[in-house]
Amino acid sequence: MILCSCAGITDREVRAAVAWMRASDPDTVVTPGKVYRALGRRPDCGGCVSLFVATMRDELKSTIPTELRNLRSGRTERTVHEGRP
Ligand code: FES
Repeated sequence: MILCSCAGITDREVRAAVAWMRASDPDTVVTPGKVYRALGRRPDCGGCVSLFVATMRDELKSTIPTELRNLRSGRTERTVHEGRP
């Protein structure tokens, strides 16, 4: 499926680029800009960003270690009360 019609990027290319980045450096922060650069293309209108990022996140979920997943949704005593009286 074409994700970015301006640059002609497919979801397979995005998934392959994210997997390649994670394989070459597991600690790297993958951003849409890095994916565009890895594919040798440039964004134009930006209309694809939400779908582009959703595809990246979907691919990243499969490569993030299980103990690091869903950290934002985890509630702790401190985050519930936020230290306020
Ligand atoms: S559709 Fe991706 S930059 Fe225009």
